Amino acid sequence: MADNEPSGTSERIDDLEQRRVEAVPRADELAAAKQHPKGKYTARERIELLVDEDSFVEVGEFTLRRPTSFDTGDDRCYGDGVVTGYATVDGRRICLFSHDFTTYGGSMGEAFGEKVLKIMDMATKAGCPVVGINDSGGARIQEGVVSLAYYAELSRRNSKASGVVPQISVVMGPCAGGAVYTPALTDFTVMVDRTSRMFVTGPDVVRSVTGENISAEELGGAEVNGSVTGNAHYVASDEVDALDWVRTLLAFLPANNMAVPPEYPVLEPAAAASELDTVVPDSPNQSYDMRRVLAAVLDDGELLEVHASFAPNVLCGFGRVRGRTVGVVASQPLRQSGIMDIDASEKAARFVRFCDAFNIALLTFADVPGYLPGREQEQRGIIRRGAKLLYAYSEATVPKVTVVTRKAYGGGYAVMGSKHLGADVNLAWPTAEIAVMGAEGAVELLYRAELAEAEANGVRASVRAKLIAEYRATMTTPYVAAERGYVDSVIRPAMTRARVSDALLMLEAKREESPPKKHSTMPL
Ligand code: HXC
Repeated sequence: MADNEPSGTSERIDDLEQRRVEAVPRADELAAAKQHPKGKYTARERIELLVDEDSFVEVGEFTLRRPTSFDTGDDRCYGDGVVTGYATVDGRRICLFSHDFTTYGGSMGEAFGEKVLKIMDMATKAGCPVVGINDSGGARIQEGVVSLAYYAELSRRNSKASGVVPQISVVMGPCAGGAVYTPALTDFTVMVDRTSRMFVTGPDVVRSVTGENISAEELGGAEVNGSVTGNAHYVASDEVDALDWVRTLLAFLPANNMAVPPEYPVLEPAAAASELDTVVPDSPNQSYDMRRVLAAVLDDGELLEVHASFAPNVLCGFGRVRGRTVGVVASQPLRQSGIMDIDASEKAARFVRFCDAFNIALLTFADVPGYLPGREQEQRGIIRRGAKLLYAYSEATVPKVTVVTRKAYGGGYAVMGSKHLGADVNLAWPTAEIAVMGAEGAVELLYRAELAEAEANGVRASVRAKLIAEYRATMTTPYVAAERGYVDSVIRPAMTRARVSDALLMLEAKREESPPKKHSTMPL
């Protein structure tokens, strides 16, 4: 034993204490000095903001970076650029890792990788959600292929954990290169407005490879990832808001795929049931806010929206009915008349699959004029990509309850939780219009000759109006679908919460088996 090494028990405990101070509070002081001037919290402060007070147990605080050929002396500090451990949020266990950008730029090295893999494995075995807070320069250049190997390993862990435990990523600074694929493989990604950036290659590389001049914000800022790419499910105003959102999200989710979501006390909706009787305007061309419907159906009217600014023509989010979590998929007539397009299909499909994997009942509200026509959508693959939502609903075995509030035309009818995709309870309001297409389009197609003759006689407008009224009265009423049992009941709008809640209660113990298979081959 060397002279300066502790020998007795009390010396060893003192030595441990010294090391702990160096590894945790001293390291945090140094980190704070670098992060705070940039308006950013340190890795440990972020954890403290997320979890219950004094609940965080750190794992691997004494980890040291592996030596590399770049080393000139031993400047290795504890932690290796990531803080890992477990804690509770509202009393429920989570595992988490938080990049420390102040140590080697939060980049992925061997010890860093081992720590993250260990915590991921722990979460998967223990069956608890895993939250990753990202602030990283990507692959650690000095560790070369080892760093790349750990990114690939991490992707494998993310894939293994997918559908087993909820995985949530928070991006709170740069998230560059290989670092982006962890958020991409997790279930939800939160970004912070103006301080987080997520891109595979940064502006400098873009400029040198393609000659394009683009700012980091334009390339991978929170705004663009929240509304254009759909990479971010929530864009937070600051770091505190981001972590608050994660806490709220966790409160809706079960710990794992074998558990059920937590139950909360029943709260009355934010709006009176009777308001639903007047929500749909008399004119089919007038829009209304589907959030008004949700306010009168969900407990406290609360909807935690995901992807709020991406494909806003469909709303996806978590709410509760009588204290139990539901995944809401709802057309939003306020945005592009609630039409189904590529982004809406992919957004809703991903959400439906998440809910199905984690035993969360699906509550669908349809007011959809169909799939968006046109060259742009066809050429971007609305056939393949639009099929994802059909697939997701068909595959889902959780309780599925659908309410048609107004339009359910064409493919829109089929895809928005129709009986034929396996919905358990389908309800329609008397204002529902269920048909292959809207009255105007149908009349133009069906009565071409009659309309031409009316035109010649100068009475086209009145003949067209009469035909439209006839079509509406005979073809688009919800009773045509109800006659066949495609709609289980036509209900007064004010009864929606009561009927939805009864249906969900009836379906509580629903079990539906799918034929055994290795995995599906859904159209990705
Ligand atoms: C090692 C890194 C690093 C990296 C940053 N640092 N990124 N060290 N490997 N990848 C270090 C810096 O050297 C610096 O160290 C400290 O972290 C802070 O970095 P700054 O550049 O001063 O910070 P900032 O100006 O805020 O810029 C942040 C940044 C920039 C945009 C992330 O650092 C950057 O562009 N980094 C490289 C990004 C990248 O190309 N990564 C590799 C991608 S390839 P000192 O000692 O000076 O404080 C990849 C492929 C994986 O990831 C594929 C797997 C499938």
